[in-house]
Amino acid sequence: MTNKTFVTHEALLALIEEGLNAAVPEAAAPYAHGHPPALLAEAMRYSLLAGGKRLRPALLLRTVEMLGGDLQEALAMACALEMIHTYSLIHDDLPAMDNDDFRRGRPTNHKVYGEGIAILAGDGLLNSAFEGMLCNALRYPERLQRHVAAIEAIARRAGVTGMIGGQCLDLSSEGMGGDESLLSYIHLHKTARLFIAPVVAGGLLCGAESKQLSALEVYGRNVGLAFQIVDDLLDLEGDALAMGKATGADAKLGKLTWPALLGVETARQKVADLRREAFGALECFGDAAKELLGIGDRLTSRKA
Ligand code: IPE
Ligand code: IPE
Ligand code: MG
Ligand code: MG
Ligand code: MG
Repeated sequence: MTNKTFVTHEALLALIEEGLNAAVPEAAAPYAHGHPPALLAEAMRYSLLAGGKRLRPALLLRTVEMLGGDLQEALAMACALEMIHTYSLIHDDLPAMDNDDFRRGRPTNHKVYGEGIAILAGDGLLNSAFEGMLCNALRYPERLQRHVAAIEAIARRAGVTGMIGGQCLDLSSEGMGGDESLLSYIHLHKTARLFIAPVVAGGLLCGAESKQLSALEVYGRNVGLAFQIVDDLLDLEGDALAMGKATGADAKLGKLTWPALLGVETARQKVADLRREAFGALECFGDAAKELLGIGDRLTSRKA
């Protein structure tokens, strides 16, 4: 047994919300040197503070907590992950991509601000994410190496061999069909990479040993893959109101998904298998992994 204490779920979410609110402040003037234009800050905050599930920052903070690290030191990195994720959603919803009108329970960014500003709001969130992580790293010169390694781990998984690469194949294979190998590539890259990033970055920040980093990677990959299959199942049979985004979009766009390729039952079985593998990977951390496992449990059994 461990006598480790954990921050409550509510306290963790409050910490994340506070961090996000501070990461992209409101602009006082329409334009002023050294500040983002008010319109840009407003568009960025519109999507960022719209109340997503905050899974990626929570995964990073729970990993840091499990490994005995400092949550305040890790907060900028947790917020950066949410900013990168939110930018990917703003762009994913654009007419040139999935053409969605609702996200996080409100009209999509481009519906409110127009496509040009929505593109810039996404760009702004992406750049601000890295500005925030680098500024924070400079505050900890004694652990600079760890911060840089963690930032690199995030950059790579968000990039062209990660999420952006997956989004490319997701788009270019629309309406083309495809096989399990292509579908696995798309899910691993467009989604699972942004679940691996927080747990591995958390591990690197805390100086985890390579066996622990490998275990975290297996956990992130399997919950990430399961998460996307659940997302595809919910697109078929979920409640749009509860999810805050439209359903039925994948079939309309001819997206390659597990339910479309292998059927709903096989997709559900796949979620169960991935979940088991993910949980198995955390056994080496013992009871300290309790909260990290809790996130995996919620995100693979979610209804919204
Ligand atoms: C949606 O992610 C995009 C996918 C990878 C399926 P989330 O379901 O985590 O979205 P938010 O952050 O809660 O809005
Ligand atoms: C999105 O996948 C993955 C991203 C990198 C944004 P989806 O296109 O299935 O996500 P939703 O269903 O729009 O949230
Ligand atoms: Mg998409
Ligand atoms: Mg989409
Ligand atoms: Mg989807």
